[in-house]
Amino acid sequence: MNMQFARELPKGIQKITDLPNGDLAALWGSIILDDLLKKQLLSQAVLNFTVRPNVPRSVLPLHGVLLLVGPPGTGKTSLAKGLANRVAEVFKSSNFRLVEVEAHGLTSSSMGKTQRAVADLFAQTVAELASGGPTIVLLDEVETLAVDRSKLSMDANPVDVHRATDAVLVQLDLLAEAHPNLLFVATSNFPEAVDSAFISRSDLVIEIPLPNATACRKILEDCLTGLSAIYPKIGQLTKHPKFEACASEFVDLDGRTIRKTVANALAADPTVAMAPETVTIEQIAAAARAARKSRAKKEGK
Ligand SMILES: Nc1ncnc2c1ncn2[C@@H]1O[C@H](COP(=O)(O)OP(=O)(O)OP(=O)(O)O)[C@@H](O)[C@H]1O
Ligand SMILES: [Mg+2]
Repeated sequence: MNMQFARELPKGIQKITDLPNGDLAALWGSIILDDLLKKQLLSQAVLNFTVRPNVPRSVLPLHGVLLLVGPPGTGKTSLAKGLANRVAEVFKSSNFRLVEVEAHGLTSSSMGKTQRAVADLFAQTVAELASGGPTIVLLDEVETLAVDRSKLSMDANPVDVHRATDAVLVQLDLLAEAHPNLLFVATSNFPEAVDSAFISRSDLVIEIPLPNATACRKILEDCLTGLSAIYPKIGQLTKHPKFEACASEFVDLDGRTIRKTVANALAADPTVAMAPETVTIEQIAAAARAARKSRAKKEGK
């Protein structure tokens, strides 16, 4: 099935990608993370397709759900998509597909319709896709779909929101039973807002941390090396005597902010913006200091 055009996509689905896919392979590689964490993630996803179809649920109650939690910008969405591709690569299969769910589209339906939309998405669309071959479904920002019911006040939130969470849970149970070749990879940066029954159904909850000092350095290096494909002189900055000191300015920042900070340095002034290859190591370090300062201010430190 080739669903290249958005208008052909079923409601609630943002994108369907046939795997393996080169862009997603690059994405997995671009996320600098402890190798053990990446391995654990991949192993659990592979297990879903090896063990889950064969072992009765009374023995191993697997639901086919992985949950990635962690601060914003730590690479959760990129990892989830890249993971789907890695799984297809491991199985040397061209049958796998990545399905990206558009949670906001469902929950913004008018009052009384969210529950129906969620139920339809899982019971019909996802079930149909899973019948067509091994399917990995990305539930990005899952707290919008599986809202923690215990924290919802009935006054502030329509009963519809509660019911939508109920529908997700019911459907996860049904799909787990009927479709062993289905894997959900969910992400959240508000794990406390995710319903505990959803967390309980997750086969693995994995915390994606902020990058440590070594990872920050590697992300900076990867970013500058990436830029060197277009601006060769920028690549030379990774060999600059002040590179290590510059990299240490990035500690405490998340991966997204590190990359954005490099972009900010390229906009240090209009001359650099016009000729990005003239950016200096000092300008990059200064941009990192500014980013850390603005973060500290936001966190009230
Ligand atoms: N550990 C990392 N190594 C390299 N790049 C990273 C890392 N973490 C984040 N990035 C970069 O930051 C950007 C954002 O990543 P992504 O959207 O996957 O983060 P996220 O955790 O899903 O964020 P959010 O919680 O806000 O949705 C990407 O361009 C990614 O390459
Ligand atoms: Mg994300």
